[in-house]
Amino acid sequence: KGGVEEEGDPRDWLEQMNKANKRCIMFYGSQTGTAEEYAIRLAKEAKSKFGISSLVCDPEEYDFTKLDAAAEGDKVVFFLMATYGEGDPTDNAQPLVEFLMDDEVQFSMEREGGERLKGLKYVVFGLGNRTYEHFNEVARKLDKRLTELGATRVGERGEGDDDKSMEEDYLAWKDPMWVDFQRVTGIEEGGSGDVADFVVQELSADAAEKEKVFHGELSARALAFVGTANGGGPTSGTITKTGIPDAKNPYLAPVKVARELFSVDSDRNCIHVEFDIKDSGVVYQTGDHVGVWPTNPDVEVDRILCVLGLAGEDKRHRAIKVESLDPTLAKIPFPTPATYDAIFRHYLDVSAVASRQTLALLARFAPNAEVGERLSKLGTDKDAYNKHVQGPALKLAEVLQAVAGDDLHQVPSVGNTTVWKDIPFDRIISVIPRLQPRFYSISSSPKLYPDSIHITAVVLKYESQPSEHHGGRSRFVYGVGTNFIMNVKMAQEGNAGKAPVMADQRQQPNSAPSIVHPQASTPKYKISGPRERHFRDEKYLVPVHVRRSTFRLPTSPKIPIIMIGPGTGVAPFRGFVQERLAAAQRAITKAGPGATPESALKDWAEMFLFYGCRKEDEDYLYRDEWPEYQRGLGGKLNLEVAVSRSERRKPDGSKVYVQDLLWDARDKLVPLILEKRAYIYICGDAKNMAHSVEQKLMAMLGEAKGGSAEVEGAKEFKLLKERQRLLLDVWS
Ligand code: 2AM
Repeated sequence: KGGVEEEGDPRDWLEQMNKANKRCIMFYGSQTGTAEEYAIRLAKEAKSKFGISSLVCDPEEYDFTKLDAAAEGDKVVFFLMATYGEGDPTDNAQPLVEFLMDDEVQFSMEREGGERLKGLKYVVFGLGNRTYEHFNEVARKLDKRLTELGATRVGERGEGDDDKSMEEDYLAWKDPMWVDFQRVTGIEEGGSGDVADFVVQELSADAAEKEKVFHGELSARALAFVGTANGGGPTSGTITKTGIPDAKNPYLAPVKVARELFSVDSDRNCIHVEFDIKDSGVVYQTGDHVGVWPTNPDVEVDRILCVLGLAGEDKRHRAIKVESLDPTLAKIPFPTPATYDAIFRHYLDVSAVASRQTLALLARFAPNAEVGERLSKLGTDKDAYNKHVQGPALKLAEVLQAVAGDDLHQVPSVGNTTVWKDIPFDRIISVIPRLQPRFYSISSSPKLYPDSIHITAVVLKYESQPSEHHGGRSRFVYGVGTNFIMNVKMAQEGNAGKAPVMADQRQQPNSAPSIVHPQASTPKYKISGPRERHFRDEKYLVPVHVRRSTFRLPTSPKIPIIMIGPGTGVAPFRGFVQERLAAAQRAITKAGPGATPESALKDWAEMFLFYGCRKEDEDYLYRDEWPEYQRGLGGKLNLEVAVSRSERRKPDGSKVYVQDLLWDARDKLVPLILEKRAYIYICGDAKNMAHSVEQKLMAMLGEAKGGSAEVEGAKEFKLLKERQRLLLDVWS
């Protein structure tokens, strides 16, 4: 026991705070890292504003029974809580939320009722998305509960909307919160105003020889260091593998298959990828998501290296060693030592639109006062920022170039780029977020494909607002994840062993070179791309991990299912259908010789798949697979396809969409829903499609109940949701 006492309880955050003299603690409920980032930013601000230290913690790793005792030492507890799907907390916040919500919850001081957390001061900021019904439910619920238990909130509850304005919501919320914070705690302002998080040391060639330098590896070992050790690096310890790859430990999966499902005018691409997970320990279920860790395109890597004066061959492959001055606050977002090139290519998100706060923080390091003022304006004036940065979708390096007067039309090179030599590299590490995995709905079933994970992804591209940086025109901005996968596909096709082409050089008149275009034929400035070590047996290796979902089939095939998924929303349903097919094959075998799908599956329920595409001969996904599945399922699978850009129109001339076919089939569907306990699944675009489909379902149910969509329909709809017979996997 003595040993335990000496070491301290690793789950006791209060003791850790007391020992290290910390006043604030930030807990984050984070899935993709955003809440964690805000937690860290708040902690840093507490330091720079008031000179007080904080602890930033993953709630999963701590015990909350001493929450009441935190009030004694005048501690302030911050909660940064993301809400997911149906109003759920993130995985890492689940135990915390469950603990607090328990009616009988008891804390260390064993007080009763509304006294239980008396005196505790807390701050809440929620991260949600307004296109979902349960906007910021976790933060709201937690806030209400803490108040109920006697705790006092400091400032207003913040609510960020990921659909529109997360960053602005955060910025608008935090300043008044700090004012209240100061009033309530009585702490005087007195921070240094600017604090470095890291110590950066560039290694000489000799020193680098002696170390294991990271060049972009995303092995379990490399990632295990990220954010866990104080820049310890691989030489200072061994990482025990848990066996099963997860978010902190992705699996380097060979790409078994990568093919184009369609390509329209070389402009709209959809790809099918199969990751090989044989003998990897990776397991998945139908309906799960897979996280894919992408790589930044060459052009973005080059641009930031040029702007920072690190683009020369002698410099870009230099290794640096980084140490965190306060590992609980500032986690090093990459394994160290790593080369500059690798840091920007594999670990930091240099492809994202620059955040306003980042610009404000970097203004003081401008090459001259005038440029600094321009940057500072973009960092502080919201309208200017929206017009010149957000709208035109400028990345950090592009903003730095633009304010310095560089020509954004030119390919960045050492000769034509203003060098921001005064930005200390530690600030760069602090302000650029870590490159995060992108999640895709898995489109296969492990029952049919135990050794591979399939995904179905449209290569993302959107048009920016026109801007003066691009001659008054708009330009295309490409999604990092899907374009990375597209490049992997190209790399694998006859190019195995060579680096994928990561840059788009399709020059549009009067526009800056846009990044990664999948159809790029002759790249003008292709550089290294991911390393050769990303290949094994001629197969490209992509770091992946599985994220569990609640999007599941009913176990019994005797329960009807209605699946609605236009476009790539069909992905999980391909998995569902495969899963049923595997069960059908078992049933047929069991029925003995002479059994047919029709005879063996006669007591199975109907399955409906509502799918939508633009044109049958253009973007109809897996067109040749469906008839086969239908045959194998003995006619139980009904496929309804809404072809939106065809001759067929509604009487008013508008397009036919999945929700219209749903409506047409209501005589068949409604009895399945109301009497046969059918499950309904919606997958795809959250904002328009899912919303219209939900409205249509309410109308169908309302009509069947002899009432309106708004009252009777909405009531039935709500019941379905509560009984978890209406499940969503939607994205915006
Ligand atoms: P559209 O592009 O012709 O408008 C997959 O993207 C399919 O979903 C396409 O046929 C697309 O049609 C259609 N779609 C677009 N908006 C939709 C909406 N609000 N509801 C249902 N389907 C929609």
